[in-house]
Amino acid sequence: MAQKHIVIAPGDGIGQEVTAVGKKVVEKIAAKFGHEFTYDEVLIGHVSIEATGSPLTDEALETMRNSDAVLFGAVGHPKYDNDPTAQMRPEQGLFRMRKELGLYANLRPIKLFDELLGASSIKPEVLKGADILFFRELTGDVYFGEKGRKNNGDTAFDMAEYSRYEVERIARKAFDAARTRRKKLCSADKANVMETGRLWREVVQKMSLDYPDIEVEHQYADATAMLLIKDPRRFDVIVTANLFGDILTDEASQIAGSMGMLASASIGDGTGVYEPIHGSAHDITGKGVANPIASILSVALLLDISFGMKEESELVIKAVDNLLKAGYRTRDIADSQTAADKILGTEAIGKLVLTTLDEL
Ligand code: NAI
Ligand code: MG
Repeated sequence: MAQKHIVIAPGDGIGQEVTAVGKKVVEKIAAKFGHEFTYDEVLIGHVSIEATGSPLTDEALETMRNSDAVLFGAVGHPKYDNDPTAQMRPEQGLFRMRKELGLYANLRPIKLFDELLGASSIKPEVLKGADILFFRELTGDVYFGEKGRKNNGDTAFDMAEYSRYEVERIARKAFDAARTRRKKLCSADKANVMETGRLWREVVQKMSLDYPDIEVEHQYADATAMLLIKDPRRFDVIVTANLFGDILTDEASQIAGSMGMLASASIGDGTGVYEPIHGSAHDITGKGVANPIASILSVALLLDISFGMKEESELVIKAVDNLLKAGYRTRDIADSQTAADKILGTEAIGKLVLTTLDEL
């Protein structure tokens, strides 16, 4: 029995619909395993701007900081998409949360459920069995270095900067994760052309001496981009810098078929944040068709990473697997083989996961 406090931050659009399902899954796990979970719900994004005048209030942030984990949905509203002059934007809430909670590692598991082999644009025989865990550094690189213009604005620059400490802390997380998996770590950098890449490689090489059981491969990030599509099964854990991680994880999301299937964890030294990779999807908001599986798998990550509840986490994944095996789909992952009566909406899929969890 464990006592934990969880903050639910549904945010905007389908964030609210899928996070409601995620929360029910957490509650079910607590009941099943006898854990005592307590909850707070906070506003973030457009809904927070409307209610409070701020995309994330100090109070909401403190509530997050004082919790054991945050289950987040998504932020965004079409109102801002065509208004580059808006002074306040939903995304500011997201960036503030990441920055203030010191979330320097973004973990994105890329796992294709066998039942969805046909949903990807990559050939099934190349994909079958692919199971990758990305560690993308989240607080350094060109995003946060000095940037500006010179030569009367005709030249622009973005400085890439990494300290040894920043590389060490994410590399350590990746090595530790590899130890719990297939014991392979690929470090993607550009040590051939970038000084930050040479520091990156030096740190990873040195750290590998502490992990003689892990097989380490150093790759140039452009080669990683190519190999992800050519032979995704060769990868286990991949650790990389912020910019390369941004691009490589979006590329890799296609291995899993739909945006609605992928979860991510952002972690640092304090509270971790768990969220689907997709946004607020206003094109389908309120229609009840959003795929809640990314949020459900975010719960699985939360249980595993923040609470160390491996068994509970695996059960959640198994429940998802079972309902896919039984042929149930949301619209985004249905194909020509799917029977019409097995295409379900957000709530119905949520309910099925709960009953499957009861039976497991
Ligand atoms: P999106 O991820 O919201 O949607 C992209 C496409 O995928 C849409 O056609 C949508 O219907 C579909 N989709 C996404 N999630 C789905 C799900 N669970 N089930 C079924 N279909 C799903 O990205 P988009 O449309 O570019 O952005 C919409 C808003 O979300 C924007 O305001 C954007 O800024 C914001 N956004 C927020 C993110 C976050 O909070 N982490 C991440 C990405 C975008
Ligand atoms: Mg991106």
